[in-house]
Amino acid sequence: MDTNEKNETKTSTPGSTSFMFHNSPAMQELLLKPISKENPIVNDVKIRRLYLQASSQQWYAPQKLNFDLPVDPEAETRKAWARISEVFYTLEKMGLNVIANMMPKAAGKLKSDEVVNYLAVLCHDEARHVFVIESYLKKLGAPPVYDYKYHVLGQAASLGFYRVENWMFSTLFSENFASAFLRRAKASPRIDPFGAEMCKYLMIDESRHLHFLHIVLPDVMDRLSIMGKTYVKASQYFIMKFSEVISRSLDADAAYVGINRRDLLEEIFENVEKAYEGFGVTRQFLRFPKITDRGLATATISYPSVS
Ligand SMILES: [Fe+2]
Ligand SMILES: [Fe+2]
Repeated sequence: MDTNEKNETKTSTPGSTSFMFHNSPAMQELLLKPISKENPIVNDVKIRRLYLQASSQQWYAPQKLNFDLPVDPEAETRKAWARISEVFYTLEKMGLNVIANMMPKAAGKLKSDEVVNYLAVLCHDEARHVFVIESYLKKLGAPPVYDYKYHVLGQAASLGFYRVENWMFSTLFSENFASAFLRRAKASPRIDPFGAEMCKYLMIDESRHLHFLHIVLPDVMDRLSIMGKTYVKASQYFIMKFSEVISRSLDADAAYVGINRRDLLEEIFENVEKAYEGFGVTRQFLRFPKITDRGLATATISYPSVS
């Protein structure tokens, strides 16, 4: 390949360090300018750029991941990862279903055509995550099963009042959860080569998902009425409390692979708190549940109502 060919490949391949349009004002006008309404609720310019970035970072699991890489030969380690991964699989599958359901509602509410394009790519990301974790579970010798114990989380995140706003704030929690968990899982002394590869690629997608929320949520928060804020606040507390309670059942497995549940939750709550601070609200707005070491059997939680 001569130098010209190399340059052409470098500049014309989405996903490479530079795009063709970086040096072309005409192409920038054509490709980067949003098509949306005059007074969009969200920052359409940023969302359009993120859509392009997300599209260029798409990956095909059988090409990116070596499904031949081994999992841990030790049975107890495989079982621990299988139980943890089943929860992760359930959450990813739930997220996929909820996104597919919320996509048109969110685009309508935010009055943004750019959001439609971006969420379509997000939906594909989550489908890939479900596919990959499903394959990992099979490699671990566990059938991929959707655990209905967690189903209420998806309902709390996308049903009821202020459903678009509530869904987006819930996603802030779940994407932070996914990122913090994947980082710790990847660093686990007991992670197998395939699991580590899987976590690495999933993390790249999840951090992009957080980027989207940081673009849109300040505008969503600004437009939310007092009633809406109260509802979102109650619902977010419920989701975090439910996660705190239910994750207690994974305490032993997480500890076995070197993940401390309390540290994980603290990191997630801290990241969510920082994000809310960025939206101009503090702990007075969002309460965080106490992380306890009590057993699951003694815990009771109830769904919030609008006050
Ligand atoms: Fe995901
Ligand atoms: Fe995600």
